[in-house]
This record gives sequence, structure tokens and C-alpha cells, in this order.
Amino acid sequence: MPSQATTQLFPKLFTPLKLGAITLPNRVIMAPLTRARTEQDHVPNALMAEHYAQRASAGLIIAEATMAMEGCSSFYAEPGIYSQAQINGWKTVTDAVHAKGGQIFLQIWHGGRTCHPALNNGKQPVSASAIAIEGEEVHTPEGKLAYTVPHALELDEIPQIIEGFKQAAINAKLAGFDGVEIHGANGYLLDQFLRDGSNQRSDEYGGSIANRARLLIEVIEATLDVWESGRIGVRISPLNSFNSMQDSDPVALTAWLAEKLNEYNLAYLHVMRSDFFGVQNQDILSPVLHAYKGNIICNMGYDAQEAEDAIAKDGLAAVAFGVPFLANPDLPERFQAGAELNVADPDTFYTPGAKGYTDYPFMNS
Ligand SMILES: Cc1cc2nc3c(=O)[nH]c(=O)nc-3n(C[C@H](O)[C@H](O)[C@H](O)COP(=O)(O)O)c2cc1C
Repeated sequence: MPSQATTQLFPKLFTPLKLGAITLPNRVIMAPLTRARTEQDHVPNALMAEHYAQRASAGLIIAEATMAMEGCSSFYAEPGIYSQAQINGWKTVTDAVHAKGGQIFLQIWHGGRTCHPALNNGKQPVSASAIAIEGEEVHTPEGKLAYTVPHALELDEIPQIIEGFKQAAINAKLAGFDGVEIHGANGYLLDQFLRDGSNQRSDEYGGSIANRARLLIEVIEATLDVWESGRIGVRISPLNSFNSMQDSDPVALTAWLAEKLNEYNLAYLHVMRSDFFGVQNQDILSPVLHAYKGNIICNMGYDAQEAEDAIAKDGLAAVAFGVPFLANPDLPERFQAGAELNVADPDTFYTPGAKGYTDYPFMNS
């Protein structure tokens, strides 16, 4: 008797992918998710190792936004990668993921003007220009506070930022990561330079798109001194208005970046296709698909079917899932089985402890 062929629900999602220097067993990627679970000094702990190891069946885990340098905390209990204790803590995470056969990149990050003085020993935050976030508040141990006006980085202060990212890339290697993702999204420092709502500089880091992208490009080039290009990804979110971000021409910015990043032969370009708040609505994916020659990972609001279709028809390399991965440690297996998904509990997104972090049930538990 011929063996019965098993029907694959999502054959493209489960086709292996060469992503720069690594090969992924599937294209269901875990998006970076800040969960604020460190207990002291921004040091990753055993609970975080358990959380990430639970999700090791992802094609690739992109670990949460991690402070590249001291004094840039935006979430109080987010991890860092600037101290030996943090490197050691992350090593337990990467070891746990690797032991389960997974692969994991670290998202290296600076919050810029989101770094409130109450979280950083009174230190004033820095940004491209002295423009504060408006209409949103930051959670601190002193309660919710308004964001403060940042100090516009002087030209002679910028090299320290680039050096900080480079050291974070070195430390990520020491911590056993498979690569790094440079966080150029969501209204944090590199994005604050990219977009003209937050960057009103008149020097070589402001004005034209090439000037506004200069800091991101310099960070990429510094990271290339540390990691081979096939182990570096970049994330952008040209439409996201989170952190009171805006740009006069997100399509032009996206097209310019997609074209420019071809020069670096990176592992991937990771694009958030829409706006958390639905305020800025334009098609930024088409310019990326048109201009970018390497692997494109897209994210925001995908389910398995749409992801499958986008890989099959649009030519995306893979899709990253945020909230679905947060609530479903075995998301790829669930997609393969056509199983129901757990529903995420937003009340525990940033709270301490295991609740809403390591206790989402597996399919067969
Ligand atoms: C709790 C939470 C934390 C997040 N943390 C990060 C982060 O650290 N870095 C980042 O680039 N995006 C972060 N995001 C955005 C997600 O990576 C993702 O873009 C978003 O959830 C949309 O994808 P989805 O529709 O698949 O959930 C976060 C989102 C959530 C809900």
C-alpha cells in the first residue's frame, strides 16, 4: 500500500530558510518582545531562560530590546548587555535555547528620549533633537510620569553611542547569541534620528534622508566589525506612531533604506508594516519588496494563512509573530496542527514573575 501523504497546511511556512549565515527549520519567527522580567541590575535570569527555551521551535527567536549601554533604561526591568553579569545571564538563555535546538538573535537597543530620568538615576535622556514624547506616559517605580525633554546629542557625543552599540554586539557574541538585530524601530534612538518628526537637526545627522539615516548606517558598520554580515539584521517601523513618532514621507524613507541596505548583505531586513495606533496608513511594504534584494521579514497582525500567502505570493522570506508567540510557546506546532491558539493576557505583559510569562500552556498539556 502506498503511504498516505500528510497534508501540509502551510507548506511555505515550514520550508527551511537560509537566512544569511544560518539556516532556519521554518519561517515562523518570534518577534522581539520586551517582558521586563529581570529582577536586578538588568540581568537576565533563569525564568527568562525557561521562557525562551519554551519557544525554541521558532525558526528564529529575536530576543527582546536589550540596553546596549548603561543609563538607557525605558522599562525599568528590561535586560542589558553591557555588564559581565548580564553577559553571563544571557549565556544561560542562549544555552537553554541551543539545548532545545533553537537559534536566537539579540535585539540591541538604545531608548533615546524614552529613557526617563526616574529610571536612570536622574540622567536626562538623549535624542536627535530636544523634542519630548507627547500624549503618552512612562511607567516608573514612582508611577506613571510624563516624558521629559531630551538633550540633543552633540556631534562629539555621537561616537560614544556608536561605540556602545559595537560593545553590545561584542558582548552578544560572548553571550552565545547566533547574531544581532539592530533596533531601528518603534520610536527609540535610531528611529528618532530616522524620522523628521523627532529629528530637526541641521548638521550632517539631520535634514535629508541620507543624513537622518547616518547614525543607523554607522551603527551597522560598527557592528560589521564584530559580526559577519549574515548574522546581522535590522528592524524598522517607518509607519509606527508609538512614542509620538511621525515622518513627513515614510514611503520615501523606507525606499531609501531598502535600497541602501542592499550594500551590506545582511541576514535580513525586518519591517513592521503598519502603525500600532492605525494613524499612519501607507503601503511601505511594496517599496521594500521592490528595492530590497535580500531576505525580508515582515511583521504585524499576521496569522498563519496570511503569512503563508505572503511568502508564496509576495516573496517575503519569513514572518515574525509577536503576541501569538507570547501566548503560544509552541506556535509552529500549533500552526502545523491547525490548532487553536491561547489568547494573550495584556495585564501580564510587563509584570514580574512567571504568571503570563512561562505558564501559557503547550498544545498537549
Ligand atoms: C509586550 C510587547 C513587547 C514588545 N517588545 C518589543 C521589543 O522589545 N522590540 C521590538 O522591536 N518590538 C517589540 N514589540 C512589538 C512586537 O515585536 C511586534 O511588532 C508586535 O507585537 C506586532 O506583531 P504581532 O501582530 O504579531 O503581535 C512588542 C510588542 C508587545 C506586545
